Amino acid sequence: MSKTKGANNATFNLEPGGILTGTVQVPGDKSMSHRSIMFGGIADGVTEVEGFLEGEDCLRTLDAFSAMGVRIEHAAGGSVVIHGQGTGALKPAAKEIYLGNSGTGMRLMTGLLAGLNLPSTLTGDDSLSVRPMRRITEPLAQMGAKISTGDAGTPPLNIASGDPLTGIHYECPMASAQVKSAVLLAGLHASGTTSVSEPDVTRDHTERMLKGFGVDVQTGHLTASVKGGQALQGTSLQVPGDISSSAFFLVGAAMTPGSSLTLTNVGINPTRTGVIDILKLMGADIRIENERETGGEPVADLVVTGTQLMGIEVPEPLVSLAIDEFPAIFVAAASATGTTVVTGAEELRVKETDRIAVMADGLALLGVNIEATADGARIVGGPIQGGTVDSVGDHRTAMAFSMAALRSSGPITIHDCDNVNTSFPNYVGIAAGAGLRITASLSEG
Ligand code: S3P
Repeated sequence: MSKTKGANNATFNLEPGGILTGTVQVPGDKSMSHRSIMFGGIADGVTEVEGFLEGEDCLRTLDAFSAMGVRIEHAAGGSVVIHGQGTGALKPAAKEIYLGNSGTGMRLMTGLLAGLNLPSTLTGDDSLSVRPMRRITEPLAQMGAKISTGDAGTPPLNIASGDPLTGIHYECPMASAQVKSAVLLAGLHASGTTSVSEPDVTRDHTERMLKGFGVDVQTGHLTASVKGGQALQGTSLQVPGDISSSAFFLVGAAMTPGSSLTLTNVGINPTRTGVIDILKLMGADIRIENERETGGEPVADLVVTGTQLMGIEVPEPLVSLAIDEFPAIFVAAASATGTTVVTGAEELRVKETDRIAVMADGLALLGVNIEATADGARIVGGPIQGGTVDSVGDHRTAMAFSMAALRSSGPITIHDCDNVNTSFPNYVGIAAGAGLRITASLSEG
């Protein structure tokens, strides 16, 4: 499903064994990096961002705001300066806006642009083009937005100009920070108040970061609301390391006796830390050190010591707090003693790939006893063999499979790995530096 399927595309080659040691700094948080551009792009005045994730997804969002007339300076190393001039300076992009692999880019921008009444066409790669968008277009239509999708409710999305939007209360049927955020961002420029309630807690970066831009956002346990007509003020932001990128290293080190790894400057927002809780329930030795706060977000260093993990029934309240980490958690479960059962995780089927299917197919090829279910999987831990698997162009399945090599008996080859660059530039270099026996090569389709 990656955009380059059939052309030259990276293959990861793993030799079995090894341990993870030393110190790793993973790249910046993807969710926060997207939002920093979007909010800085509509704010009054300058926004300075440090630690911006220079992955393809966030760069597409940066390009989109440049195409709509926002002056953005970007220096290598994650320094970005956004010269916001409020919403009035934004103009419709001259051509369609291509958002690559990024569901976050597309869903959040659709809410924002619909509220701003900026006609646009948003497109994506093969994966994004089959992802469900009615989950945002339906509540936005209730607010008065005019957005058309493909027949199956998939991209491209055409946002037509129309009357100003009206605030609504939306009961979100699924636990999705992207849907919550799309509605709230539309609500910023709607009349009256817009509120969203969600069935389970999802990441709250939109709410926290909008507050940092001076917006009055009311938040409760499962609700958030904004009054329309509020202006954003430019600010300074430090983006911490992405806990979702850290998750591969957390799992790799936690499940491999002899490992001893420190992950520095990781965002530990409590709406994102489900992976730490789940691994600890499996017996992992993870210490949270040097806790501090930057830009309204908690940050810490994570110290992991390897051990033999145990299978568990993953508590359903932790699922939405670890939603991007299940590919890695499935690998932890494969190496554990006993059985791990994941339920209530049907959202995994509509990520960059159907992550339940891709992980079940790949782990089965590595000799793991795994049964996919409608909303999760049942994984019996045991020996992991070498073999060849397909990430199906999904960054997180590619990185998760690579960590399996720490506990496999033979080499593992992973196809279709280019999209690792969407969230984790230089993954191979950083993982090899920590002790993963990984190299990348180019393969023909
Ligand atoms: C994200 C929300 C999650 C997550 C995605 C990033 C965000 O998606 O999977 O990687 O930044 O809001 P859903 O809201 O679809 O669960």
